[in-house]
Amino acid sequence: MSNEEKNKTNKSGEMNRRKFFNLIGWGGLLASAGGSAIGTYKFMFPTVLYEPPTIFKIGKVTDFSMGVDERLKKERQIWVVRNERGLYVLVAICRHLGCTPNWFPDQQRFRCPCHGSIYDIFGNVRGGPAPRTLWRAGVSLDVVDNQVVVNFLTRQDPDPESTVNGLMVEEAPREAEPYFIKNA
Ligand code: FES
Repeated sequence: MSNEEKNKTNKSGEMNRRKFFNLIGWGGLLASAGGSAIGTYKFMFPTVLYEPPTIFKIGKVTDFSMGVDERLKKERQIWVVRNERGLYVLVAICRHLGCTPNWFPDQQRFRCPCHGSIYDIFGNVRGGPAPRTLWRAGVSLDVVDNQVVVNFLTRQDPDPESTVNGLMVEEAPREAEPYFIKNA
């Protein structure tokens, strides 16, 4: 190979190397710019955990028929119960280890699928390992639109008495404000 040809080959090799390093340089620059853009985006829209509200309206008393209404069990973790005296709200959380019981209208019982706790329509424990009655949540009437307002974290939790029928609480004192809405 002549000297001229050798020079040409060297020059083209040097050009390729330069192109290669240029490419790496630009790639790095773009990657770091992209990274900081993502960081800025994340900073502007921080990760926030949206908890469901703990005080909420559920409609008017007359929107619920007599007995246990299960419509809000999934969305709000409550059962709305109406009787001839008024309305109360049971929290759909088993008092044993927190599973969600199911309502069996034919038996008039809530049954927990986890370890077999059984509750009656008032929340009394009629069987199984649950150590306390179902909670009742705070309820009131909105003065403007007359809707039932549930305060999910205000809980009625009386000490039950151990009887042959289970862990029972006298019903009359339970049907009082702020856990019961008496019929008008
Ligand atoms: S969680 Fe309901 S019986 Fe255990």
